[in-house]
Amino acid sequence: MSFPLQRMRRLRVNKNVRRMVRETRLSVDDLVYPVFVCHGEGIASPVEAMPGIYNYSIDKLLEELEKVVALKIPAVLPFGIPAVKDETGSEAYAEDGIIQQAVRAIKKVYPELLVITDVCLCEYTSHGHCGILKDGRVLNDPTLELLARTAVSHASAGADMVAPSDMMDGRVAALRKALDQHSYENVPVMAYSAKYASSFYGPFREAAGSTPQSGDRKGYQMDPANADEALREVWLDIEEGADIVMVKPALAYMDVIRRVKTATGYPVAAYNVSGEYSMVKSAAQMGRVDESGIVLEILTGMKRAGADIIITYHAVDVARWLKERV
Ligand code: PBG
Repeated sequence: MSFPLQRMRRLRVNKNVRRMVRETRLSVDDLVYPVFVCHGEGIASPVEAMPGIYNYSIDKLLEELEKVVALKIPAVLPFGIPAVKDETGSEAYAEDGIIQQAVRAIKKVYPELLVITDVCLCEYTSHGHCGILKDGRVLNDPTLELLARTAVSHASAGADMVAPSDMMDGRVAALRKALDQHSYENVPVMAYSAKYASSFYGPFREAAGSTPQSGDRKGYQMDPANADEALREVWLDIEEGADIVMVKPALAYMDVIRRVKTATGYPVAAYNVSGEYSMVKSAAQMGRVDESGIVLEILTGMKRAGADIIITYHAVDVARWLKERV
């Protein structure tokens, strides 16, 4: 059947018809809001490269989260800025580490807000790498034990879900085993499965002070040129017990999101990372693009590609825009 019997424009004729045939719907239910938290009191210091994003002390973070809860955003992903960094990133798994304190405080005030914790060492190590460094190399197997300790300490502080982002081999199995041994068998693992060695993390590293002091992360994060390999990473994580798999970054990796969703049928998270956020913010501040239009289009694209969950610094704005839009 073709023109004039078939006229594609008939179903675009007005807003209500378009609403009826819309295939993809972005919802507040899809969103996870990443936040930065530091020691101290009364602190809300702007992250320069990420307009609208702040580094909060716990008291200020709790104030900010009132908005998040009121907007019905289901989950937050706190990143900690430690007081001191050392060779083995000990504040990552310290009982009174910044994340452990933040999680306890959040769960006390907002028991229903899901708290997902990022399990990695890079914010906590003096060298800025995601594991134990020896002779310029990140050691895989000795790092696993520290990651497992970190995850258990998060769970015991009340974390609802843990998200390993280090890209060591075997970390999902190590976390799952340690969590189960400590009776946290109901704490899911959202694995940063296909995490690329990306230039899009620049603003985050400024915020978290986690830029590697030497070398780069190409020895453990994925080559942006590879997609078949992403599927192997994802399947390995699933075999090791991952409940949700993640593709990160998102914008330049829509094909990977789609392939992972189609191949596995697992819940897929897409991380709309700091550099993606900063690009949009900069262009919007210069008046070059319409911010809400462009953000909603990008996130809808991620959903259309197959993402079930979108981790985004735009979450609060998006939740507001979605409320206003019919
Ligand atoms: C920790 C971690 C990073 C991000 C999330 N978890 C930084 C990195 O791998 O360098 C980046 C998030 C973002 O850019 O928004 N490993």
